[in-house]
Formats: sequence, C-alpha cells, structure tokens
Amino acid sequence: MSYTRKTVESIYFPKFKEGLPSMKGKTVVITGTTSGTGFVAADTVAGLGAKLLLLNRASERAIKANKILKDSYPNAEIHSVDCDLQSFASVRNAIKEVIRICPEGVNILCNNAGVMALKDEATIDGYDVQMQTNHLSHFLLTMELMPLLEKTAEISGESRVVNHSSVARMNPSKELKKEYLEKNGGKLGGDGDSFIFGEARWKRYNQTKLANAAFTAALHDKLQKKGSKVKALVAHPGLANTELQVTSVKDGGMGSFFTGILMSMGQSMEDGAMGILSCMCLENAKSGEFYGPGSSVMALKGKAEPFFLESFYNNEATRELIWKKSCEAIGRELAL
Ligand SMILES: NC(=O)c1ccc[n+]([C@@H]2O[C@H](COP(=O)([O-])OP(=O)(O)OC[C@H]3O[C@@H](n4cnc5c(N)ncnc54)[C@H](OP(=O)(O)O)[C@@H]3O)[C@@H](O)[C@H]2O)c1
Repeated sequence: MSYTRKTVESIYFPKFKEGLPSMKGKTVVITGTTSGTGFVAADTVAGLGAKLLLLNRASERAIKANKILKDSYPNAEIHSVDCDLQSFASVRNAIKEVIRICPEGVNILCNNAGVMALKDEATIDGYDVQMQTNHLSHFLLTMELMPLLEKTAEISGESRVVNHSSVARMNPSKELKKEYLEKNGGKLGGDGDSFIFGEARWKRYNQTKLANAAFTAALHDKLQKKGSKVKALVAHPGLANTELQVTSVKDGGMGSFFTGILMSMGQSMEDGAMGILSCMCLENAKSGEFYGPGSSVMALKGKAEPFFLESFYNNEATRELIWKKSCEAIGRELAL
C-alpha cells in the first residue's frame, strides 16, 4: 500500500520564523532531518546561523536532504553524521563523531527522529524497533553527550535537550509499562493495526511517545536537583503532514484511505515544527516546559504554546521506571 503526503499551506510558521533569535555561535545536533519537522528545524536554525550536525541513517534520502541544506546555506557549518537509531553500535559511533566535531560543546540536542506503527520487530539489540528508534537511542545520545551539554551550559549559562513527543502519549494508554522498554522486540502484541481500537502497533507507538515525555520529566527533575544549567524540554507537532504517515502506510500500520481522511485534519510540517523550534530557539523557554498546539488529545493544529509536564508521566514512579529501564538498555549506571 502507498500514500502520498498532502501539501498543506503553513498558517503560523512564516510569522513565527520572523520572530526567532539569531543562532550564531550555537552548535545544534538534531536527529532525523531527511524530511518533516527535523528537516524544517535544521533548515531554520541553519538560516539563523547555527553550526549544525545532522544525524541520519545512511540513505539516498539523507544524501539529498543534506545537499539541499548545504546548497541553501553555503556559508553555514553543516556536518552530516551517520546515525542509525535502530542500532546502539551505530549511535555510539555517531557520538564519537559528534565529540570529535564539537570540542567547543553542544548548545542544543534535538531528539527529533521517529517512526510510527511499525511491525512487531526486534532491532539488532533486541528491543522493539519503535522504542529503540524513538526513545532508547535518544536516551543513549543524551547521556553520552551530557558532558558537552554541561560544558556549554557552564560557559554560556544554558544548553538544551529537546525531545519530540506526540498527542499519542495519551492514547490508548496513559501508563508507561516496563515490558516495552525491555528486550522484548518482536513479542509485543503482534501487528494489529487499528488506530481507532488502539491495537498493538499503536500501543507500541503510544508507549514510545509516553517515554519521550517521561524521559523529559525525569531528566528535568535530575538536572534541577543537581543544580545543572542544562534544560530539558519536550514538544509535540499536533498532526503534521510529513513522511511519518507515508512510512507507516508502507509498513502496513495505516490504510491509505483512512490516512487521507485523518491527514486532511492536519497542518503543514512547518507549522508542526514550531514546537521543537520553540524549545530550541526561544530565549524564554524554560526547563520542564512542553510546547505544542495545546495539551489535549484534540490538539492537532495551531500555534505552539507552552504548558506543564503532565502528572500521568511526571510522577516519581514513572520517572524512576523510565530512568532505570533506559539505563539498563544502554548498559549504564543510574547516575546522570
Ligand atoms: N507528523 C506528525 O503528525 C507527528 C505527530 C506526533 C509526533 N510526531 C513526531 O515527530 C517526529 C518527526 O517525525 P515527522 O513527522 O517529521 O516524520 P518524518 O518526515 O518521517 O521524519 C522522521 C525522521 O526520522 C528519521 N528516522 C527514522 N528512523 C530512523 C533511524 N532508525 N535512524 C535515524 N533516523 C531515523 C527519518 O529518516 P529516514 O529517512 O532514514 O527514514 C526522518 O528523517 C517523530 O518523533 C514523530 O514521532 C509527528
């Protein structure tokens, strides 16, 4: 089955972009920039003068997107770093590259990349393909790049980790469950694809997006307790017309007819990128804030506004669970 992304006019993005501050002198690391919100965010911060590291798995799509960015901003410092989030070994290699390229430190790590409603399959490391791509590999990146983030925060007063969640953090479940964070890839409910009935593919996606928000809550809590100047923020794009739905339809996660109807309610990928861009660029964005077009399950489009982390994942038990299980997965001690 196939589905072609709808082109939708941006309503808020042009004005929003005009109001963004200069990013000159800032080093930005971002995952998943071959399309969608990651491409828009990379394009925007490159235009604002940032030094940019694009972390993508090797593909024709990555080569093409990187070339567009490099051609658009010939004077910008833009590095392409191979990073397949389905493999911890690949992520560890990417980390070495980032450390080599950024001796000055890192101002912003944007954990943007994601996949949705894929088959019940294990990665090479044994984890659910969605959980490792969307959360566990980003946890690894964040932990290993923390010394560079701390270095920048000490020198310039702050640095930021920005995670990308979804309205799917609430549906079908508001409870993060440990089995999705363990080595159970391929054994997490099968390939039921009904979005409306919250079948297995969507349960796994829900858990990954809940994990993105819970990770932000746990990181914010730990950074605050140790008096760090590194900020932890999270965004969601509402419903944005990107390649996410195209990839899901191709994998059997959504029917093309249903996707067409659903996405007619969505916004442009540029409007969808305002959440992560707010977290990355706005001078007054605070640690522990969530940016998106509202906090309800129906917040599908609109301006990105800040709201508080929500109690269904911002509670002691869930913060402890996400930290413990994520540390176990990447083979690291619990300390930050
Ligand atoms: N679009 C929406 O309505 C929506 C709603 C809620 C949340 N989100 C979140 O927004 C984020 C961005 O998604 P998008 O909507 O912009 O979709 P997209 O256009 O499909 O972009 C996803 C990006 O993630 C990358 N990626 C996927 N698997 C990867 C892997 N194993 N290693 C490295 N990169 C990988 C893709 O690269 P490849 O070219 O290699 O596949 C692509 O660059 C995701 O976290 C998603 O969950 C989107």
